[in-house]
Amino acid sequence: MGISYKELGLVNTREMFKKAMEGKYAIPAYNFNNLEQLQAIIQACVETRSPVILQVSKGARQYANATMLRYMAMGAVEYAKELGYEIPIALHLDHGDSFELCKACVDNGFSSVMIDGSHLPFEENIELTRKVVEYAHQFDVTVEGELGVLAGIEEDVQAEKSHYTNPDEVEEFVERTGVDSLAISIGTSHGAYKFKVKPGEPIPPLRFDILEEIERRLPGFPIVLHGASSVIPEYVELINKYGGNLEGAVGVPEDQLRKAATSAVCKINIDSDGRLAFTAKVREFLWNNPKEFDPRKYLKPAREELVKMYKHKNINVLGSAYKA
Ligand code: G3H
Ligand code: 13P
Ligand code: ZN
Repeated sequence: MGISYKELGLVNTREMFKKAMEGKYAIPAYNFNNLEQLQAIIQACVETRSPVILQVSKGARQYANATMLRYMAMGAVEYAKELGYEIPIALHLDHGDSFELCKACVDNGFSSVMIDGSHLPFEENIELTRKVVEYAHQFDVTVEGELGVLAGIEEDVQAEKSHYTNPDEVEEFVERTGVDSLAISIGTSHGAYKFKVKPGEPIPPLRFDILEEIERRLPGFPIVLHGASSVIPEYVELINKYGGNLEGAVGVPEDQLRKAATSAVCKINIDSDGRLAFTAKVREFLWNNPKEFDPRKYLKPAREELVKMYKHKNINVLGSAYKA
């Protein structure tokens, strides 16, 4: 017997996306792997009154343990209430790579799953995605599909070059699969090295022309943007100053994300920025306090920095603040 996300106090993404589309903002989809990240996401989203998608990759699920995750999500719902404001919270599988994994998440309290068949031939992507949709919809779990390939690492699959989404394919894909949202490729990529540019060189803009054509083909349909970390320079500098080496790390400029958030892009995925902020503050603390070995002492400033960063994104980049 599985457990429904409804019993955990979670919601699926349908209503969130509808409101985001009408209000011209994007829902934050923040990845987490551990307690401190989850606490920070919830605190930031409650304090900014923002709906939120808690995102878990296959690797995160292996790291944290599926049972632990279910109770962490339940704890997150209760924690939000304790902080004084109820916000809509979805628990989403990021880059699901098989029907079996998606099914296991649907059966274990997830309210939304992504099936990433973007590396497959078109017909196979449709077949796999439709199978996941048929299963998930029986339990009112929403499904994200993907067309087009992002450069960088997508779970275990590493793509050298990105393949932009072909607008000619989107209507057929959405119609035949029944997905609730579609992830597209318009020039972003995963990780901290998104563009090969020399210092001072301009970052190539995202392909808003492709996005506009997709919007024209799928009016009012929720679009998802992956690889949307800004790789905040302040954190890269701190990491490099305190013993790290992230030369050449560069992300998507915030003005590009703000523009995307006012379009049909209803969900913006951010993982790397959380990793960078956390690592920067842990490095800084340990560098300055070499005798300290209590994890609470060095994780607390990292968690506080995450709260600050997520609040900034909700208020100034995604526009999701005060929409819950
Ligand atoms: O899109 C990938 C996400 O950033 C998750 O990364 O597989 O290392 O947990 P991960
Ligand atoms: P970033 O690596 O840019 O944070 O992208 C995260 C992502 O797309 C998760 O699915
Ligand atoms: Zn992604």
